[in-house]
Amino acid sequence: MKYNFDELIDRNNTNAYKLELRKKVFGSDDVLPLWVADMDFRTPDFILDAIKKRCEHPVLGYTVQSDVFYDDLQKWLLNQHNWKVEKQHIGFLGGIVPGIAYAVNALTNPDEEVLVQTPVYPPFFASPMHNGRKVLYNQLIERNGRYEMDFDGLESLITDKTKLMILCNPHNPGGRVWDRESLMKIARICVKHGIIVVSDEIHSDMCLKGYNHIPFASISDEASSCSITFVAPTKTFNMPGLTSSAYIISNPNLRARFFDFLYRMELTTTLNPITMAATHAAYSLGDEWRKQMLDYVEANLDYVISEMAVKMPLIKPMRPQASFLLWLDFSAYGLSSDELEHKMVNEAKLALNKGTSFGLGGEQYFRMNVATPRAVLEEAIKRMESVFA
Ligand SMILES: Cc1ncc(COP(=O)(O)O)c(C=O)c1O
Repeated sequence: MKYNFDELIDRNNTNAYKLELRKKVFGSDDVLPLWVADMDFRTPDFILDAIKKRCEHPVLGYTVQSDVFYDDLQKWLLNQHNWKVEKQHIGFLGGIVPGIAYAVNALTNPDEEVLVQTPVYPPFFASPMHNGRKVLYNQLIERNGRYEMDFDGLESLITDKTKLMILCNPHNPGGRVWDRESLMKIARICVKHGIIVVSDEIHSDMCLKGYNHIPFASISDEASSCSITFVAPTKTFNMPGLTSSAYIISNPNLRARFFDFLYRMELTTTLNPITMAATHAAYSLGDEWRKQMLDYVEANLDYVISEMAVKMPLIKPMRPQASFLLWLDFSAYGLSSDELEHKMVNEAKLALNKGTSFGLGGEQYFRMNVATPRAVLEEAIKRMESVFA
């Protein structure tokens, strides 16, 4: 079956975050939304059908986790990433962003430090900050059109109080699929200093052509025992409003510490019946849709990058190796972040994520979401060209 990703779907009147918050975030409703990381594509029909089918039963009562959740995830991780995970190492999590906050609270004390590599998904530093932890910022290095890790810089920041590192694997916003050697180095540094790694792998099922995701915990026994991993089908299958995710922790001591926090906070909930049906459909029926979606995203990336090369050659796109987010370097314009943001919003009428929100190193950048019908991108390029050509 051939899925249609060109369909234009009106998301008004659905409380869509990327539409409703435009006024608050950008000061205007009159901007084309290419920011929040969900897709404008139809959530696949096999997921919508599974939800409808569950709703044919007239009672949406309290629900227990069925073995299907664990079986699906175990099979998925083995088939997609060659990663064998034990059932008892898996737990349900109602969202990865909350999971980051739980990890910070469960695994560090208020006077301790958390390492992040910026520019990065904002909750990585916001969550430890909101919980009174000190954040250590290690900036990624751009080399040959992609991000690399600064291992010396990383190690020089570490003190006796550094207890946690939050790793974005693959990386958002740079779209980097981390190679085995980088992950090995992180494992070596973190084991040496007794640091626990939280590996957020929400983008892992969206590797683009030529790239394969390596789960951090799969690279060695050391990495497995010093880490906790978060995964989710929500971003890949465009159902992030359902918040379905999971943690995987092989180290029994770490698992007990994390679980103890969930237990004390009454967070050991299960999927609700709707999310449970959707999650099962995604993992058991979703692979063909996923591949076609990624082909469409790849073609969209080709389109945007080649249009920019011809019409706006001062913009330097960082081609992602995974996912649908395109990180755009505007530094060649020689403008301040405020000036760039003003032009993007008020002149081009485009809502892209401001690079400044991703922390150090994001100052001259925008993040553009290309998981949208081609016609929307054509309009975006037209608007951008009128200001940045
Ligand atoms: C790296 C990363 N982690 C987590 C999330 C969101 O996870 P959740 O919706 O499960 O809280 C996102 C969404 O963009 C993300 O990019």
